[in-house]
Amino acid sequence: MSESVKKWGPRIVWPLIYFTMFVLIVFATVRTLEILNGGALGDSGDFGPPPEFADRYYRHPLVSFIHMGTGILFLLFAPLQFSTKFRAKNLTLHRWIGRVLMTAGLVAGVTGILAGLWLPAFGGISTMLAVWFFGIAIIICFLRSFWCARNRMIPAHREWIMRAFAIGLGVGTQRILIFIFMPFQLAPFDQIFGPLLWLGIAINLLVAETWINVTRKKR
Ligand code: HEM
Repeated sequence: MSESVKKWGPRIVWPLIYFTMFVLIVFATVRTLEILNGGALGDSGDFGPPPEFADRYYRHPLVSFIHMGTGILFLLFAPLQFSTKFRAKNLTLHRWIGRVLMTAGLVAGVTGILAGLWLPAFGGISTMLAVWFFGIAIIICFLRSFWCARNRMIPAHREWIMRAFAIGLGVGTQRILIFIFMPFQLAPFDQIFGPLLWLGIAINLLVAETWINVTRKKR
């Protein structure tokens, strides 16, 4: 079982990861254009968010720009850092990029919590709890991963950074779930936003923990 997960897992999961990153980049681009435009670019249709959704980003441009920019920077270069070949050939570069990406990821986590408070995050208490819970969790993952790297606990360093990556990418999985669920009209947009944030990040963490378990070397 674990052998087939090792063989097929990356072939299935990496394309999904790149697709989720693409979705996040599209959202970040749209929000950036809306901030520059001073409001929503167009009607988001019957199933999309109400116009106030975009307005919150435009009213808080600084926290929005910093959050989206640092988050995307971290996600874009993280796959390079996971590459065994790249690390083997460029260890010093891996360390420097790692420091930059960890700082970017930490800033994305902190500004995620601030965005939850200031925008404020859509979806009321369930979104707010998710933002606090996973915002603190991603910060812990980064700090623990850095501590492990400094203390030469490399397998543990890899595991903690995978968890941080899974949480960061979970925000994109939530957007994909919104696209899947909204046409069924199970609940209004603001009621489904929070539960799908929990679900999106939980799915990613489940995949990450499975991968961590099947690839963990017996110590
Ligand atoms: C590290 C990778 C991350 C990236 C690339 C990222 C990217 C984004 C993007 C593109 C948006 C705008 C989404 C949209 O318009 O639909 C957004 C919004 C937001 N993000 Fe992040 N994010 C990341 C991590 C986090 C974390 C860890 C948290 C805290 C748990 C967080 C909390 C938020 C909140 C509260 C919003 C506003 C949601 C709303 O519109 O109500 N983000 N993020």
